[in-house]
Amino acid sequence: MCGIVGYTGSDTAKDVLISGLKRLEYRGYDSAGVALERAAGPGGGATCLDIVRRVGKVAGLESELAHRDDASTCGIGHTRWATHGRPTTANAHPHTSCDGRIAVVHNGIIENFAELRAELESRGHRFASETDTEVFAHLIEEAYDGRPDAGVPATGDLMAAVRAACTRVVGAYGLAAVCADEPGVIAVARKDSPIVVGRGERGSYVASDVIALIDATRDVVVLEDGQFARLTPEGIEFSDEQGRPIEPDVTHIDWDIDLAEKGGYPDFMLKEICEQPRVVRDTLVGRLSPTGELDIDELGLSFEELDLIDRVYVIACGTSYHAGLIAKNLIEAWARIPCEVEAASEFRYRNPIITPSTLVVAVSQSGETADTLAAIRDARIKGAKVFGITNVVGSPVARESDGVIYTKANKEIAVASTKSFIGQIVSLTLLALLLGQVKGKLTVGQVRMLFRELGDTAAQIQWILDTQREAVHEAALACKDAPSALFVGRGMGAAISYEGALKLKEVSYLHAEAYAAGEMKHGPIALIDPGFPVIAVATDSPVYDKVVSNLKECEARGANIIALATEGDEDIRRIADHVIYIPPVRDAFCAITASVPLQLLAREVAVMRGCDVDQPRNLAKSVTVE
Ligand code: F6R
Repeated sequence: MCGIVGYTGSDTAKDVLISGLKRLEYRGYDSAGVALERAAGPGGGATCLDIVRRVGKVAGLESELAHRDDASTCGIGHTRWATHGRPTTANAHPHTSCDGRIAVVHNGIIENFAELRAELESRGHRFASETDTEVFAHLIEEAYDGRPDAGVPATGDLMAAVRAACTRVVGAYGLAAVCADEPGVIAVARKDSPIVVGRGERGSYVASDVIALIDATRDVVVLEDGQFARLTPEGIEFSDEQGRPIEPDVTHIDWDIDLAEKGGYPDFMLKEICEQPRVVRDTLVGRLSPTGELDIDELGLSFEELDLIDRVYVIACGTSYHAGLIAKNLIEAWARIPCEVEAASEFRYRNPIITPSTLVVAVSQSGETADTLAAIRDARIKGAKVFGITNVVGSPVARESDGVIYTKANKEIAVASTKSFIGQIVSLTLLALLLGQVKGKLTVGQVRMLFRELGDTAAQIQWILDTQREAVHEAALACKDAPSALFVGRGMGAAISYEGALKLKEVSYLHAEAYAAGEMKHGPIALIDPGFPVIAVATDSPVYDKVVSNLKECEARGANIIALATEGDEDIRRIADHVIYIPPVRDAFCAITASVPLQLLAREVAVMRGCDVDQPRNLAKSVTVE
């Protein structure tokens, strides 16, 4: 949820850190800070660490650093999304040891931080923040200098001190530390929180996400849990928990840096919405064998194992959970097995009925979400097969699942998921088709036909993007000043509505609720007074007439109705004040297309209301805390 960056080499460290932090800002943006080594001046003296921190976005830190000199060539930086402690300067990273010689930046959560803090305070350490991270700075300090009274031997070596500190910590960490006594050295550790390191022509780099170091190198090492790295201007040494040297695998990054730039769009959210035709196509590439059968290489489960599945749970959070609601309709329709969809945060604390023939499908764009990971672990302990759907190759969700389908959304920068969501639905649709095929409920001919229609949604999304922007704009004008909005639909339309409401509220801060349209008369209809916006998914489907009846109830109460309808449906204009069209599409695939105008609507309302659509307040791109 936060971003880490570090650099040691021959360039100006503050420039490298700021440009990396800007790339990482989507992960958290309530404060940012750096620790820069200041070399001894001509008059002698020791190297020291210069800590600069600011509440707010990286731009504030950048202007603060603009007034400082450029001499430093080694430093670490961080952009934060507050967990332990409010977003204040004192709580911003880097955090330092008592004497300020050691500084750390950290992602993750230290579960035993209260005990460690009490223990360290009892030995005289003074804490300057409310964060869990700060215990790392003090633990490393003790391990560096030694504390014979507490049985802590002195290592006098930053890498060894970091390794020793990690043995005391329960929880998750991606960590980078510097020490004024070891100029040019950055010590890095990882457990359950991503860290990548790489060598460039002008030095060594570390970050929590490859996007921050891709300008410097395309060959990176994604650290595994329990691996450590020691960066110097000359190179990188890797070691394990015992300090033994290791040779980690190098990953070549082949995606384009354009992904991290807006490419002429006013914001990443719009850019990513517009990339969705490509996401559909890429997610489907190579999935159909020459004989017309579905072929998913990364499946990890044999067809025999899949055939034994008699119940599916989809577990996920937020937008990914909504992708699960869509999948339920498809899995039950095509494979004829019961499918339940559950918020991972609930699933992990229940005692769900799981047997070896249960398939748990964990959906997570980031592949890091703490609740989803915990639910995966729990499900596996209980004997379920776990299948991951994620956008991040090698992410914890991918690694801890028996099988995986990778969505091909590529890096998503805007905090609100759009293209990842479409990638998830397409992947879940593939899984539903596969289950239908394996269980003999769908013939090869049916699978082939459905697969072709699934592919057609790419062009259908493009049609929406090309022709419906004006209609979306009109609808946004109708919503922007409303105190609240109601999204309704039935069947697939209900699932689409839930995501539409989430998107609107998270980016525009306009309160929105979604209801299955048939439920409205049981309560929510009381909200409707003249002018109240009701956004209805009224596309061509077996329940179209039912939705229209529900809309009549809203019309009778003066609602301002915005209908999402199928191209050619002119009748809907009799009750709808605004109509946005999608091309005719099979109901099973309607979520892929109908979600797009709702994403555009949310963004348009947010822009009209002056919101930062890419970085909505209080949110973070990956939620690695419970
Ligand atoms: C909303 C959004 C979030 C995420 C949720 C789960 O636009 O992006 O609701 O869907 O935090 O994240 P992942 O998919 O990374 O597990």
